[in-house]
Amino acid sequence: MKVLVIGGAGYIGSHVVRELLDRGHHVLVFDNLSSGLRENLFSDAAFVHGDIMQYEALRRAAAGNFDALIHLAAFKAAGESMIAPEKYSLNNISGAINILNAASEAGIKRLIFSSSAAVYGEPEYVPIDEKHPNRPANYYGFTKLEIERFLDWYDRLRGIRSVSLRYFNAAGYDVKGRIKGRELNPANLIPIIMEAAAGQRKEVQIFGGDYDTPDGTCIRDYIHVSDLAAAHAGALEYLAKGGRSLAVNLGTGTGASVLEVLEAARRITGKEIPAKIGPRRPGDPAKLTASSELAAAAIGFRAEHSEIDVIVRTSWEVYR
Ligand code: UFG
Repeated sequence: MKVLVIGGAGYIGSHVVRELLDRGHHVLVFDNLSSGLRENLFSDAAFVHGDIMQYEALRRAAAGNFDALIHLAAFKAAGESMIAPEKYSLNNISGAINILNAASEAGIKRLIFSSSAAVYGEPEYVPIDEKHPNRPANYYGFTKLEIERFLDWYDRLRGIRSVSLRYFNAAGYDVKGRIKGRELNPANLIPIIMEAAAGQRKEVQIFGGDYDTPDGTCIRDYIHVSDLAAAHAGALEYLAKGGRSLAVNLGTGTGASVLEVLEAARRITGKEIPAKIGPRRPGDPAKLTASSELAAAAIGFRAEHSEIDVIVRTSWEVYR
C-alpha cells in the first residue's frame, strides 16, 4: 500500500515507518521536525518537510493517490497541556482538522490515528477496556478524544474509515536496533531514567511513594514501541479488508511500578541511578492498565516485546 505518515520522524512515527517499509509498503513521511528528528528518517521512504498548520502544503502532500494516512503529529505532554492549552488546541485539534480535510479532498479513505489512554481519565476500574467512560483528566486527553469524535463524523459524511489506537505507556526502541533518535527534553519515565543512567541527569524524581499500590509508587502499562508499530500495520490490513471504524486500546494488561522500572534499569545498565521520592504529580492515577482484547481480535495485536526488561534493554542500547 501507499501510505502517508504524518509525524513519521517522531519517536513512535519512525518505528511505524520502519515497520511499514519492512512489510513492503511505500511511505511518504510528512513532518515539521519540531520534535521529529532527521536521523529518524529512512532512505527507503520519501520525505516532505512540512507543517500540518499549513493547509496548502498538507493538501499537496496528500494528493498522491495514497491508500491510507497515519496521523502521529501531535504534542503529547499532558502536564504542559494544562498550562498551554492554546498550543494543544492549535496543533492537535486544528492540525487534525486540516489532516481530515486534506484526506477528504484527496479521497483518502483509510486513516489510523494515534490516540491515547488519556481519553479515559481517572480509571473507574482496571484493566480499562474500550467501554470505560471517557473523562479526560487533562487537556491533552481532551484533544485526543475530540479528534476521535471528528473521525466519527468524517466516517459518516465522507466514508473515511479509521482506527484510533489508544496507546498506553509507549516505551523502548526498535528491537533490531535501527532507530537511535533520542527525544529532546523527554518527560516520560523511561527516557528520564535512561538519561540518569547515562550520567546526563543527576537523579530521578519519583512522583509519590504513598499510592495505594504494593510498593507505594504508580503502576503503568508499558508497551514496547515495536509492538505499537506492528499494531499500525495490523490496523492498515484490517481497514484494507473493509473493517469498520473503531478505537482500540494498546497495552499489555499488566503493569509495572515506578520502583520496578527503576530496579530493572539498575540491573540492566549496571548503573546506580540515584532516585529520590518526591511529591505526587497532580493528575496521576495510582494504577493504569489496559485490556487489549478488542485490538487482539480486530487487528491481530500482540504484545510480543513488552516485558520491562526488553523495554529497558532496547532503550539502554540507545542511551548508553
Ligand atoms: N514518573 C516519575 N518521575 C518522572 C516521570 C514519571 O515518577 O520523572 C512516574 C509518573 O508519575 C507515572 C509514571 O512514572 O507514574 C509514568 O509517567 P510518564 O510521564 O512516563 O507517563 P504517564 O503515565 O503520565 O503518561 C503516558 C503518556 C501520556 C499518555 C499516558 C497514557 O505520556 O501521553 O501515558 O497512559 F496519555
